[in-house]
Amino acid sequence: MEKFVINGGKPLHGEVTISGAKNAAVAIVAATILCDEPCVLENVPEISDITICMKILSSMGAVVKLVSKNTVYFDTRGITKPEVPYELARSMRASTYFLGTLLGRFHNAYVAMPGGCDLGDRPIDQHLKAFASLGAQHELENGQVHCHADDLIGSQIYFDFNTVGGTINAIMAACKAKGLTIIENAAKEPHIVDLANFLNSMGADIRGAGTDVIKIRGVGYLKGITYGIIPDQIEAGTYMVAAAATKGDVLIKNVIPKHLESITAKLRKVGVTVIENDESVHVKVEGPLLKTSLKTMPHPGFPTDMQPQFSTMLTLAEGTSIVTDDIFDNRFKYVSELRRMGADISVDGTVAVIQGKGMLQGAPVVATDLRAGAALIIAGLAANGTTEVENIHFVERGYECIDKKLRGLGADIKRVIVPDVDHVRMSG
Ligand code: EPZ
Repeated sequence: MEKFVINGGKPLHGEVTISGAKNAAVAIVAATILCDEPCVLENVPEISDITICMKILSSMGAVVKLVSKNTVYFDTRGITKPEVPYELARSMRASTYFLGTLLGRFHNAYVAMPGGCDLGDRPIDQHLKAFASLGAQHELENGQVHCHADDLIGSQIYFDFNTVGGTINAIMAACKAKGLTIIENAAKEPHIVDLANFLNSMGADIRGAGTDVIKIRGVGYLKGITYGIIPDQIEAGTYMVAAAATKGDVLIKNVIPKHLESITAKLRKVGVTVIENDESVHVKVEGPLLKTSLKTMPHPGFPTDMQPQFSTMLTLAEGTSIVTDDIFDNRFKYVSELRRMGADISVDGTVAVIQGKGMLQGAPVVATDLRAGAALIIAGLAANGTTEVENIHFVERGYECIDKKLRGLGADIKRVIVPDVDHVRMSG
């Protein structure tokens, strides 16, 4: 196990380059199963969720070759058995995407019930509803979801509420189905548009991605292409907030400013200067951070994946802020760790009341999930004294080289091996 040791209180300065988007990449890597020829993906983030996706593909018989650091070659024609290895599938939420692609290609799919960040109950009823609309049935067999269909026929899919994963899985299952599929109440996140662009580049016929109605006409063949994944708007937002929390001055490069609009608007509201360029944003703080109220919403609203980071910054603002995040059952698990650093936050269900204290004190803390880990790192960067963040494997699921990138901005952050207590006791 490893931890980060951070000596805080240093404003971040300089330039950082954003990597490919995790939540686009996990979908697009799974979607290579639908391609009838080899394809190459560029700007693939070097993160553990992607490593697992590539392991899943190669363990099923695909050829997955690293062309360079962030460019990967995929040839999935060698996959014959539509079953994802159980232990790999259960380790992350994104494994649900293999249900959609294997069903889309083989009309059959076995995938373990998904794992991933513990944000409360994370059912897949809407995914299964979408598959059923196309003619698929499903059973739960020894912890695996088994989806199968004699044929996939285009139809209308109406989601009961916004679901990113459900929309992504519906697109992947429908893009080779017979006839027209209309997805209503679709999610509109940038990674959904990126997936549709990837599939359309291969010859799919998907219109309306990014709106709440997506029309898909099934096609018979998807040709090989080279495709570049969009920059990660959550990684970018995380560095924007880190710059603000440390009262720094940072240029964040390789971004699509339009994808950051809700984050930019909120940062400006709390007194942060954000200058938008074509492919970068410049973030600096010239005065005190101000309180605000925040409610997370599906895109284009303020993303839930930015809530822990932004709430952490609000502990440093003047006054009382209110944060509501009801996208998941419980996305405030990190608050108990922030309190160890002196934060004054009370949580009632999906609402947090934050009394800005202006400063945090370094302390040993434990990451409980990916974005909580990012939030605790931000807290450590801003705090007086030393902070140790354990369970950084959560952070490495979604942030490429985060310690190296932060050191490039002047942060004092080191990666340290945590001795295995059992081992030490045995060798006592
Ligand atoms: C995706 O999760 C992201 N994960 C999450 O990012 C992100 O927080 C979330 O979308 C919302 O933007 C990936 O893309 C791999 P949902 P997903 O389906 O697809 C409930 C991160 O930090 N729901 O939009 O699981 C669900 O429990 C991760 O990068 C059902 O009830 O999100 C949640 O409460 C964390 N039934 C809400 O809907 C379903 O069938 C939104 O879920 C599906 C979802």
